[in-house]
Amino acid sequence: MISPARVVLGIGSNLGDRIALLAAARRRLEETGSFLIMRASSIVESEPIGPPQPRYLNQVLIGETRLPPEELVAAAKRIETELGRRAALPWGPREIDIDVLAYGALQVRSQSITLPHPEIAGREFVLAPWAEIDADAHVPGLDRTVAALLADLRRDAGRAGRILATVADEGRREMKIVRTLAAVREWRDAVPAAERVGFVPTMGALHEGHRALVARARDECAHAAVSVFVNPFQFGAGEDFASYPRDEAGDAEAARAAGADLLWFAGAGDLYPTTPVVRIDFPDLAARLCGRSRPGHFAGVALIVAKLFHIFRPTRAYFGEKDFQQLQIVRRLARDLDFDVEIVACPTVREGSGLALSSRNRRLSAAGRNAATALYRGLNEARRAFARGERSVQALRATAERCFRAEADVEIEYLELVAPDTLAEAAAATAESVLLVAARIEGVRLIDNVVLGRAEEPPL
Ligand code: PAF
Repeated sequence: MISPARVVLGIGSNLGDRIALLAAARRRLEETGSFLIMRASSIVESEPIGPPQPRYLNQVLIGETRLPPEELVAAAKRIETELGRRAALPWGPREIDIDVLAYGALQVRSQSITLPHPEIAGREFVLAPWAEIDADAHVPGLDRTVAALLADLRRDAGRAGRILATVADEGRREMKIVRTLAAVREWRDAVPAAERVGFVPTMGALHEGHRALVARARDECAHAAVSVFVNPFQFGAGEDFASYPRDEAGDAEAARAAGADLLWFAGAGDLYPTTPVVRIDFPDLAARLCGRSRPGHFAGVALIVAKLFHIFRPTRAYFGEKDFQQLQIVRRLARDLDFDVEIVACPTVREGSGLALSSRNRRLSAAGRNAATALYRGLNEARRAFARGERSVQALRATAERCFRAEADVEIEYLELVAPDTLAEAAAATAESVLLVAARIEGVRLIDNVVLGRAEEPPL
């Protein structure tokens, strides 16, 4: 795969619902995988250049693409057409305009493309928003920084395309996307000591469950950071490391929408430059439940979480209760190794059907998804039986099992009632006991759990 190029785009609109069109252009760029937005400027309004026409709204985006320049330009044109742009006169009004301003350090002049864009030095509505998000960038071929070009231009009282107002911060992407450990360290070092950092470690393919974790981090802390790393050391031989879903553009959009300040797409080169020799074992906690069929899994989780805690030094770290065993192990890790972090447990987020959200759900067919709803139904039936006074572990398990067995496609790996802290099998059910299930459906391994004495989580 080619490594991504850093690209600067200018987007503009002077017809229709201009703010909405800019937002749609940003969304399409990311959805089509053409361009991952790393920084976006405020939206500024400028006087039109050319024949009399409405004022323009403009925004500058800095991001990454894996498309070669010609393909990026073609993708931009396709998005313009999809958003209703009609063939416009030169300098005429337009619903949406997506210009590639600069593509790395590339300088080309061909029939189809000129890079950097030839008008940059004379356009305040490009230079000012660009300077807002990267004043020190050198414009290829001009050998000046964006800030210097802007200062020169502003000395020209008769300049065209002058900025009239900053219209909106709406759609402004303040989230920083980084790819290197050095950049994360720089970000972390810049956080004042008194300010809280909330951290959400993930393996990507972010869904509403992750979004809830990030949103909570955002609400409770001055800074919210998210890491994305599909950690090879927590997958066993024959497990789904290779097919684990990966979706950078979707992750960027979800993290941004949830209010993250920093998103780290971590690489194995940074996290595991050499194969680790340190191993963190939890003889009791990790040997039970998922640990029986996934030997080494929790050692892999603990090691990566410990490394990430060192790197991010979070005040609070957010974990979903769906991975209940992982949550208990991370709590123990933080306690035993004196990490100065508060582990925050967040309730499982469920679809309307009750199915717990999981990145792996993406790999289920519609029928598989339907069968998977039996997991929560079964757990809930047991919870209802508990509410009616049933305390026998066997009877509660049998209640849940009846539901699972009704679905031919559900292959149960384990169904256990345990004490929350030790994960030891409960002799009798109490309100704190947790009923956990792991099952395979269409070859996809899913887990879920409920606390017997707790009310049902409301569906999305
Ligand atoms: O829960 C997960 O997604 C992962 O196990 C974690 C905590 C990010 C470690 O890789």
